[in-house]
Amino acid sequence: MAEVKKIAVIAGDGIGPEVVAEAEKVLKRTEEVFGLRFELEHGLFGGIAIDQKGTPLPQETLEICQKADAVLLGAVGGPKWDNNSAALRPETGLLGIRKALGLFSNIRPATVFDCLKDASTLKPEVLDGTDLIVVRELTGGIYFGEKFRRETENGTEAVDTCVYNVKEIERIARQGFEIAMTRSKRLASVDKANVLETSRLWRETVIKLHAEYPEVELEHILVDNCAMQLLRRPSSFDVIVTENMFGDILSDEAAMLTGSIGMLSSASLGEGAFGLYEPVHGSAPDIAGQGISNPIATILSVALMFRLTFGYHKEAEAIERAVKEVLDAGHRTGDIAVDKSKAIGTTAMGDLIVAAIR
Ligand code: NAI
Ligand code: MG
Repeated sequence: MAEVKKIAVIAGDGIGPEVVAEAEKVLKRTEEVFGLRFELEHGLFGGIAIDQKGTPLPQETLEICQKADAVLLGAVGGPKWDNNSAALRPETGLLGIRKALGLFSNIRPATVFDCLKDASTLKPEVLDGTDLIVVRELTGGIYFGEKFRRETENGTEAVDTCVYNVKEIERIARQGFEIAMTRSKRLASVDKANVLETSRLWRETVIKLHAEYPEVELEHILVDNCAMQLLRRPSSFDVIVTENMFGDILSDEAAMLTGSIGMLSSASLGEGAFGLYEPVHGSAPDIAGQGISNPIATILSVALMFRLTFGYHKEAEAIERAVKEVLDAGHRTGDIAVDKSKAIGTTAMGDLIVAAIR
């Protein structure tokens, strides 16, 4: 019998609960098939927590996460809370939970499934062989810098500040190098060193650290050029490491290479094995409650959790294989279907994947 692993399950808002329910079925299936043991504890987070507890990140939810070995998160947010003040916005909870749990890196694989090339807007020959990972710094930079407004003679002025120190850059760059070492040993470090001081420090720090990873082929690329090259030659990238805001934008761009945001998993990691796993997509208020969302991103996030936090490699592979098998058999949710009239719903997709886990 495997050791009991504690997973904090935070469904959140919109389609969050729908897709997390399918991921929970996958967890249960792996218990039956592989003898794994999970103890799930559910917590309120995001908009629903604002409504019920008056804060996006209630203390008891944070404690559930801190006691757990890993966190599985759906998505948060929605139009209902869009006009709230910062303290009462679901996204504030998202930034807060990452900070409170010391999660400084966000790992997003973007893998093109052969059978889904028709779902991408890019030409199949451009996509061929695309399998990259964006490693994004998550707790520093302009999203966390001091921000304020002031009155000037030209009217109201808004200020956002971008701050990075060597330690912050070094630990994320190290993760980039480490992940590159497990893959094809190619790392692209993305910055804007021609303009930004934080980027100049970024580049200097990455260059110094490179001395510890001489086997890794390091490329420095400016963020605007990287945005272009991702569309032009996506398969030439392997691991991309970058700061918070650039990573936010580039990882969403990379996401689109694969056709649908409904397919993409992510991990947020700190220094140890603990991690928070979530689909890349948001709460998709436009389709919430209709039972048509794609649960694959969340299910693949479970596979990522198995691999990065628990070291359950063969079980992770079994989940990924099951997803591929179901897709290869032609089953599609609406977001990835070419013929929308043949699309299946969230639970039907979840059931097929669960059944294919062996
Ligand atoms: P979104 O990712 O929720 O939706 C973008 C588009 O993709 C929508 O048309 C949606 O229907 C579709 N989509 C997303 N996930 C899908 C899935 N699993 N299956 C099928 N289609 C899917 O991004 P959007 O619309 O910009 O944001 C909606 C809300 O989510 C906002 O409140 C935003 O702040 C929040 N959000 C939360 C995130 C999180 O919890 N980590 C991340 C991004 C946005
Ligand atoms: Mg984003």
